[in-house]
Amino acid sequence: MSNSEMIKEAREYIEKKLVSKPSIGLILGSGLGVLAEEIESPIHIPYQEIPGFPTSTVTGHKGQLVIGELQGKTVVAMQGRFHYYEGYSMDLVTLPVRVMKAIGVEQLIVTNAAGGINETFEPGNLMIIKDHLNMFGDNPLIGSNNDELGVRFPDMSQAYTAELVQFAHQVAKDMNFKVQEGIYVGNTGPTYETPAEIHMLRTLGGDAVGMSTVPEVIVARHSDMKVLGISCISNMAAGILDQPLTHDEVMETTEQVKADFLSYVKQIVLNMAEG
Ligand code: HPA
Repeated sequence: MSNSEMIKEAREYIEKKLVSKPSIGLILGSGLGVLAEEIESPIHIPYQEIPGFPTSTVTGHKGQLVIGELQGKTVVAMQGRFHYYEGYSMDLVTLPVRVMKAIGVEQLIVTNAAGGINETFEPGNLMIIKDHLNMFGDNPLIGSNNDELGVRFPDMSQAYTAELVQFAHQVAKDMNFKVQEGIYVGNTGPTYETPAEIHMLRTLGGDAVGMSTVPEVIVARHSDMKVLGISCISNMAAGILDQPLTHDEVMETTEQVKADFLSYVKQIVLNMAEG
C-alpha cells in the first residue's frame, strides 16, 4: 500500500469514531503518557486497531491514540510512539503525524525524555526545544515526494515554531516555573551514547540527546504544522557523571517530574491559540 493510501485508511478509521475534530496533537514520550489520562470524554484507539499502524514494543510505552478534551480544547494524544530503533521504517515512525494532519491537527506538541548534554542542566529539568540536530543518518522524506503532502525541499529554518518557543517561555514565567531551552540531538539508539560521542555532540552545540522526535518534527514541518517541542531531562548524558545509564533511571526521573510536566503542558494547552 502506498503511503497516501495508508494515511487515508487510518484517517477514515479514526474519523468514524470522532465526536469533534482535534486541532492540537500531542506526542507523549517515555514515562510521559500519563498526560493522556487527563483527557476528558476520551476515545481510546489502540494502535493495532488502526489500519497500517505498527504495534509499540518498548517498556513504558503504551500504544494508543487518546482523543478528547483537554483544558476545553479537542486534542489527539499519542500515548507511546514508534521508534526507529524498534526497526520501523521512517514512514511508519512518522505515519501518526501524517494521520494527525489528515484529521485536522495544525499544532503539534512533541515531548520526549532526553539525556542532558549541557552541563548546566539537571535531571528533572524541562527543556523547550529551539532546534535540533538530525543524527539519524536518515530522513523520513527520502524517496519520491508526494506534493499533496508538502514540498520537495522543506525549509527547516524554523523547525520549532519561534512563536511557540516564546509562548512556552511566557507560560513558564507566568507559572513561576523554571525551564531550560536548547538544541535536541536525535540519535537512532538503542545504545546510549559513549562519553566521546557526548563530547562531540556538545562541541556541535547539542544540549540534550534522545532517540526520537526528529523524524516526527521533519514530517510535521513538511505538513506545515506548527511545532512545539519539550524534553524532560531524565539523566545526564554519558560521561558527565561517573555512573552508567539505565532505562530505569530514565523512567524514575520522569516519574518524579511527571507532576511538573503535567501542569506545564496543561497550562500550555489552555493558553494556546487555536489554529
Ligand atoms: N541518550 C539517549 N536517549 C536518551 C537518553 C540519553 O542519555 N536519556 C533518555 N533518552
